[in-house]
Amino acid sequence: SSDEEDIQKTINSVCIVTEETEKSDPSDQQIQSANTEAVTCVKESANSIKEIEKKEVKKDTAKVKENEHVDSKPAVNIPLDRKPTVQAARLKLPILSEEQSIMEAIHDSPVVILCGETGSGKTTQVPQFLYEAGFAHGTGIIGVTEPRRVAAISMSYRVAEEMNLSSRMVSYQIRYEGNVTDDTKIKFMTDGVLLKEVQKDFLLTKYSVIIIDEAHERSVYTDILIGLLSRIVPLRHKKGNPLKLVIMSATLRVEDFTENQRLFRETPPVIKVDSRQFPVSIHFNKRTPDDYLGETFRKICKIHRMLPEGGILVFVTGQQEVHTLCKKLRKMFPATQNTGDSLEKKEEGIAPNSMKKGRRGRKKQNSESKAPLPKIDLDNYSILPLDEEADLHVTHGSDSEETSEDEEDMEEIEADVTGGQPMYVLPLYSLLAADKQRKVFNPPPEGCRLCIVSTNVAETSLTIPNIRYVVDTGKVKTKFYDKVTGVSTFKVTWTSKASANQRAGRAGRTGPGHCYRLYSSAVFNDEFEKFSPPEITRRPVDDLILQMKDMNIDKVINFPYPTPPDEEALKAAEKLLISLGALEEVKKTSGKKEKQPGDSSSRISPLGRAMACFPVSPRYGKMLSLGHQHDLLPYVIAIVSALSVQELFIEYEKPHNSEEEKEEFKQKRIRIMQQRKTWAGSGHSLLLGDLMALLKAVGACEYIGCSPQFCDKHGLRYKAMVEVRKLRAQLTNTVNSVIPDANVFVDPKMQPPTDLQAKLLRQIVLAGLADRVARRVPDPPPGADESQKKLKNSYQCMALEDHVFIHPHSVLYKEKPDYVLYQEIVETSKLYMKGITVIEPEWLSTYAPQHCTFSKPLEDPPPRYNAKTGTVVCHMTALYGRCSWQLPAVELE
Ligand code: CDP
Ligand code: MG
Repeated sequence: SSDEEDIQKTINSVCIVTEETEKSDPSDQQIQSANTEAVTCVKESANSIKEIEKKEVKKDTAKVKENEHVDSKPAVNIPLDRKPTVQAARLKLPILSEEQSIMEAIHDSPVVILCGETGSGKTTQVPQFLYEAGFAHGTGIIGVTEPRRVAAISMSYRVAEEMNLSSRMVSYQIRYEGNVTDDTKIKFMTDGVLLKEVQKDFLLTKYSVIIIDEAHERSVYTDILIGLLSRIVPLRHKKGNPLKLVIMSATLRVEDFTENQRLFRETPPVIKVDSRQFPVSIHFNKRTPDDYLGETFRKICKIHRMLPEGGILVFVTGQQEVHTLCKKLRKMFPATQNTGDSLEKKEEGIAPNSMKKGRRGRKKQNSESKAPLPKIDLDNYSILPLDEEADLHVTHGSDSEETSEDEEDMEEIEADVTGGQPMYVLPLYSLLAADKQRKVFNPPPEGCRLCIVSTNVAETSLTIPNIRYVVDTGKVKTKFYDKVTGVSTFKVTWTSKASANQRAGRAGRTGPGHCYRLYSSAVFNDEFEKFSPPEITRRPVDDLILQMKDMNIDKVINFPYPTPPDEEALKAAEKLLISLGALEEVKKTSGKKEKQPGDSSSRISPLGRAMACFPVSPRYGKMLSLGHQHDLLPYVIAIVSALSVQELFIEYEKPHNSEEEKEEFKQKRIRIMQQRKTWAGSGHSLLLGDLMALLKAVGACEYIGCSPQFCDKHGLRYKAMVEVRKLRAQLTNTVNSVIPDANVFVDPKMQPPTDLQAKLLRQIVLAGLADRVARRVPDPPPGADESQKKLKNSYQCMALEDHVFIHPHSVLYKEKPDYVLYQEIVETSKLYMKGITVIEPEWLSTYAPQHCTFSKPLEDPPPRYNAKTGTVVCHMTALYGRCSWQLPAVELE
């Protein structure tokens, strides 16, 4: 139909941005058609597209006139029966006074950008404005995307409650669940869910308006959605059924959306909502300390002792730092009610003792604060236990000069000093269990000061009440990904100016506040980037490219990204997808033109289409696509689910303090390593290595019904295991729909794989991780020098010149097999391979032929199973990758 043609044309035009374009083939048949046809298309394209566009422009103007009333129709008012308390609370929100200007802008322009501080009322109120104006009472409903699942769920409940409507009408849909009905008028969903919907219905006909919330987070899916919507909105307009787009952001960083010529033809209006923000005084350190954690601790102590009541919010970089600091603070200012996490249970257990300690601590503080200190200078506070003091004195950044700036502030209010108040210390980070996270919203116990030690999750996504002081290390821990080698590292770097300002803003939510920046203003001005880089520039994009190719967007390089991914990353992704067989290179027989960088025209293959159905990395999608033999699918599904969820195993934090704790830590770790080894088993089972441990963990957890107690006892992270369970159920459904006779189900009593199955599983995993093979390097000779000795037990892989090692947590750490597969390489003290499986070198020429160089030309297609003889035989030698490993002649059963 003409509708479909139009859609396809737009999909193609998504990547047509330059004058001189080649036509992408409009249909599946053509995608698979011969090269000659493709060449003809290319030749014809330039003219035909221009003609079509000319026609469309004419049609366009005609349509617009016809449908002008659609845009300019007066706002209807759909009355709501809100509770008086709700209405009163709403009226206090800054966004309420902007309702008229927001709605006018939405009526006047197809795309509107709305900026306003966290808490100004964007998420809860804008959907209501749209509902009241009749946007859910015509042909479509209101869709709202959130980057986080928890936001999609909680916001749907909140808005339903405010509107006094049921969850049948204000609903949510996230990856695994939802409560959407035929009556749904407002639908909150994750950005990933809407992206999937675009793939099924490019015009998003269900919706009359789409709100992209939290656009400042610049999640990859949000970025891609904005790119797609920039094409969908004009197309819907052309169809006489306009779709409105509202992009909501907590920061003013919107240039990537407004000043990006590829994105929107007309620059969308930006509406700024003034927020009810109290002034926050910012205090920079005069100098920047090296030991920012020590400095953080001192600053908190100082605030707690010197400044009037009010919560303290501290920004550090990671889980480990959060716990270290929490522990130190609790020790310093004990409060019996400290029940932030498991560490405290112990304290609770010995409450009488800790009370005594608390009193002693306080008494000491009081006597100290009366001591004749010349000035308030934390470095002179000698109540620090000796070991901690030693720790703190490592710092260079803190001297009297540096603190003088704060002293003035603190002296002013010194009269209010509350003395030795206990402190209610709570950790906050994204991997923390939800019930522990929620504690931060409760008021602290009577007489305690609240102190939340957090990673940057408290920056924009959570609004914590009653924070008056923010202590900002200015640091952030980010996963860096090497676009070429695929090695990931976590690095602590300076955060951006925008994020530092967000952090400071947290202190002014309920009254005037203070933000203590533990770095100098010079560092802030010179070394902080203006904004944090969007996610799309920081992670591999293979999954994204596969999804786009599945939508027939062939020239992914020309996609209207708000910020394009790195060209290297695009190339690496395309190369990987070609090597996995998901994409086929289109050879241009007559194209004499020099190829533009990144201008490869690869197309999705039937295998790629199957892989694209699975919501996991394409490598794992390939494993799933190959799993349909010997009843392997249930195992492949379980393994892929486990591999796709981050940090399944609890990493116990190594204590710095008492010998007793260190011993306890050691014992715990030994016990858990033993558990993993038991799961991995021996013989054929052990050859599957860490993946066997994962498989058994998933099986055992399902068998027992996934209880928090079971997880804790076996060193599994409960939250992650719940996620694995959901993903496993989802993948099982998807597999059944993609592979017609798969007939898989989640078996709560899954038997371990047989020896043959375990072996086949290793081969399937190899097919997905074909470029992640490592070979053990011979041990250095006895008289070797130090640098050579360091290479003992090392491995060589295709991606890196440097030698790599098996991670000590692997069940194969001691086995040291000759050939292994790894899930990823992480750089900490060494380059460590994680997720290890043993393979046989003979398999490489069959399962990784794309990475092999053969002694004689490889038959085309590569050696296959011969049904008559029941064998796969291929006598030849081969070299793997640039490593030039001599591989044995192949003779497989
Ligand atoms: O989206 P934005 O950050 O601009 O604000 P919002 O999420 O719409 O929140 C508006 C107000 O409602 C804030 O003061 C929140 O604290 C409050 N709110 C709440 O009390 N409970 C919720 N579940 C959501 C919001
Ligand atoms: Mg919001």
